[in-house]
Amino acid sequence: MSKTLGAWDKAKREQRKMTIVTAYDVTAARLAEAAGVDAVLVGDSLGMMVGGEADTLRVTLEQMLYHTEIVARAATNTLVMADLPFGSFEESPAQAFAACAKLLKAGAQIVKLEGGAPMVETVAFLSRRAVPVCAHIGLTPQHVRQMGGFKRQGKTPEAAAQLLEDALALEDAGARMVLMEAIPSDLAAEITAKLRVPTIGIGAGPGTDGQVLVFHDILGLTPGRAPAFAKRYLDGAQLITTALAEYVREVRESQFPA
Ligand code: KIV
Repeated sequence: MSKTLGAWDKAKREQRKMTIVTAYDVTAARLAEAAGVDAVLVGDSLGMMVGGEADTLRVTLEQMLYHTEIVARAATNTLVMADLPFGSFEESPAQAFAACAKLLKAGAQIVKLEGGAPMVETVAFLSRRAVPVCAHIGLTPQHVRQMGGFKRQGKTPEAAAQLLEDALALEDAGARMVLMEAIPSDLAAEITAKLRVPTIGIGAGPGTDGQVLVFHDILGLTPGRAPAFAKRYLDGAQLITTALAEYVREVRESQFPA
């Protein structure tokens, strides 16, 4: 567990696997920190997990700032990564910098943005202005409408070559981490071997330097269906519903309060 990006670079050199879990509130941030994760991600997936939306497109920068502040206050010994939401950074590097400055002031130590080659200039601009960036490539949920759904990426040789080229260009531009979502395992492993910076995978096989999962997916609390690649470690919905039903029953039968 560490708050520094240097710890991630060191872990890559020493070939130690790193872990990230999403957190949007105090409860998740504290539990993730107590479990020893290496970073918490205030992901824009909060639009789906907290807001019950079908995708992440409606999440605003103001919502991200609110949740980043909460998580940073709760997870004081863990690296906090925060997402730039759709519409807050794509217009220009200057627009991205203004949004990043707010996220860093809210407590993020590193900011994640979605996009490959078109984001290289922005990543370079941010990196030269003291903003640590994690570049998110592969299945980028903010592009769901353009992609025609939440679909695996990098399946053809051309698409795989483009992803490798994008990852190298983003690293050259100054990205401190590269997150790869829903791409073939062998491609993720190849990119990981070619990059000096740490890679993080989700649905990208075991060959990346670290893994990230959504808190609700791990605990069986996802509203709707979790992605096939997410492993559920607990049937949280069942356990919590049983406890709540017990409370309801006890009140109705005058057993609680005693
Ligand atoms: O928003 C998010 O939770 C993410 C992860 C799925 C990587 O970007």
